[in-house]
Amino acid sequence: MSLNVVILAAGQGTRMRSSLPKVLHSLAGKPMVGHVVDTARRLNASLIHLVVGHGAERVREQLAAADVNFVEQLQQLGTGHAVTQALPGLETDARVLILYGDVPLIRAETLQQLLEQVSETSMGLLTVQLDDPSGYGRIIRDADQKVAAIIEQKDASTEQLQIKEVNTGILAVTTTQLQRWLPRLSNANVQGEYYLTDIIGMAYKEGTEIRSVQPKTTAEVEGVNNRLQLAALERVYQREQADLLMEAGVTLADPARIDVRGHLSTARDVFIDVGCVFEGLVELAEGVEIGPYCVLKNARLGPGVKLASHSVIEDAVLVGDNQVGPFARLRPGTHLEVGARIGNFVETKKAMIHQGAKVNHLSYIGDAEVGAYANIGAGTITCNYDGVNKHQTLIGAGAFIGSNTSLVAPVSVGAGATIGAGSTITRDVDDRALAVTRAKQLQKANWPRPAKKQED
Ligand code: UD1
Ligand code: CA
Repeated sequence: MSLNVVILAAGQGTRMRSSLPKVLHSLAGKPMVGHVVDTARRLNASLIHLVVGHGAERVREQLAAADVNFVEQLQQLGTGHAVTQALPGLETDARVLILYGDVPLIRAETLQQLLEQVSETSMGLLTVQLDDPSGYGRIIRDADQKVAAIIEQKDASTEQLQIKEVNTGILAVTTTQLQRWLPRLSNANVQGEYYLTDIIGMAYKEGTEIRSVQPKTTAEVEGVNNRLQLAALERVYQREQADLLMEAGVTLADPARIDVRGHLSTARDVFIDVGCVFEGLVELAEGVEIGPYCVLKNARLGPGVKLASHSVIEDAVLVGDNQVGPFARLRPGTHLEVGARIGNFVETKKAMIHQGAKVNHLSYIGDAEVGAYANIGAGTITCNYDGVNKHQTLIGAGAFIGSNTSLVAPVSVGAGATIGAGSTITRDVDDRALAVTRAKQLQKANWPRPAKKQED
């Protein structure tokens, strides 16, 4: 049987106090509901229905994908009503998994186990034991301990309120079961809503077995209603990422002070100091060391790369044995060949730095190629922009650029050439030549300094 997933995401989320729909608030750099959609994908769902209502336009915009079908629930009349909106779009011979856009940490493994409980004569229900069950629907079991019904908090008797096993809301059924049960829901209850949970009583009465499954941790089934709960789940998620990294052979100076907002892939013996943020896809090869407070986004760092503190790397490749930072900024299109070094307060962009070249201090290298073992002095600037267009600077292998040089692009400096400090280079420099443009030094012997005027 194929799998259809229905994700409920129509609620308003008033307690977020935000103009952004609740399910679009980010967890680890991705909308909460995006995590749920990705989990559905990991289960190989053939159809994903997203039930949207409040902020529907923005949710559609953010989540648009070939495998996501949006179903609009114009009025939020209850969870049963929400699933009913998706019913016409379900495949007839399918298992159906109900998830929630504001329950982002549910694991695929738990859901897989839940789906294994589904047949034409049985269904799966994810329940959890809570010390404080208040607010949740309670699981009612019969004399044989079989699940018989769910009673919502507001409809429960004092006796039923003592029950600590609660409904997570997540369940797995078949399309035919839903077709049989959903049309029979009524809103004759305290909240005047069509409760999805009422299908449990219907299932029990007709002899369909309700098989309960429990998650590994309660965080998996926790919903987000406000920013405090979102922050708490963010920490749970980040701690899980940290644990996975350590299991994979990474040393973390402090597993509580790392944030992965995307995918971080690592080899053995990587060291990551405190306060680093990883975004998008970042790959760290064997022996990479990341100093404190670095930010890396879509970057590949080869074996033995050492990144000193406070460096910011985006869309860049560091091939191997590079030393970078502290306080370096490698912008998109930076490529460092083996052993190239970038020092403090250096910015690079669309820059190819060949093997062993050094840009150690206070420079801007943009739209440029720096040859192998060239040495770029402190304060060197590639003047790549004429106010309208960007131009290239080419620096040959082994060239020596004196400190405080402006290279006015388009311009090239030959291999082994030398530029005197303080030069403004506007014309190409030949291989092995010396170019210097600064004014000659003047000296006046025994020069008297101006004296202060006498005032009366
Ligand atoms: C629901 C369950 C309860 C369970 C709890 C777990 C029902 C009747 N009750 O209660 O047993 O313990 O979840 O958190 O299902 N939604 C829609 N459209 C609607 C109504 C809700 O999309 O018309 C979405 C909401 O945005 C939310 C989710 O469904 O993400 C749950 O709805 P909510 O009203 O919060 O249900 P609870 O009262 O928490
Ligand atoms: Ca809720």
